[in-house]
Amino acid sequence: MKQTSSPTTIFLHLFILIILIPPIQSTLSHTSLLEQICRQSPHYHLCTITLRSSINHRSKEDIIGFARLALRIVNANATITLNHIKKGYMQTTCPMEKEAIKDCLASYNMIVNVHLHEALNALNKHDYKIVKQRAYVAGIQAETCDNKFKNSIRKPLKDTNRYVQNLCAIIMSIVNKLILTNQPTSSY
Ligand SMILES: *[C@@H]1O[C@H](CO)[C@@H](O)[C@H](O)[C@H]1NC(C)=O
Repeated sequence: MKQTSSPTTIFLHLFILIILIPPIQSTLSHTSLLEQICRQSPHYHLCTITLRSSINHRSKEDIIGFARLALRIVNANATITLNHIKKGYMQTTCPMEKEAIKDCLASYNMIVNVHLHEALNALNKHDYKIVKQRAYVAGIQAETCDNKFKNSIRKPLKDTNRYVQNLCAIIMSIVNKLILTNQPTSSY
């Protein structure tokens, strides 16, 4: 025997759908851009914990907001690191480590005062290719610093170097989205 839904049941279902869908939808759109950005980034977990603080971003303008936030966060970390090196918090008696720390001071000086600085400027001017280049070079500088400790037992900047490299890779992947959406449409 076939059971047909009564009009009342149909209305009840419709009612439930109308009540439930909007909240679900708005929650999804709040997180969807962040999800989308971080799924495409090389470090999903780091990406989500870094960007979660500004979860309300949605539009294309907000992709810029995510890029800016990530740049500021990595810049804050690198700036404090640079100051720690300058203040001699990473002192050592080992000559090889001393040399490595000196090289890292140069690297972090470039990361903070040149590359991330320029990247933030370029982001404000919507020059996304420059942002990508600067983030790339900043990551390379952190890697360069890390390589100086290759033969050393102590690697005081290991976590920071990896963090800077990974966040720069995340920034590059966010900025890639902006480069792709801003590409002039070909006339051919
Ligand atoms: C920078 O980030 C790394 C990785 O999370 C952390 O180990 C380091 O302590 C941070 N440096 C500063 C100065 O916050």
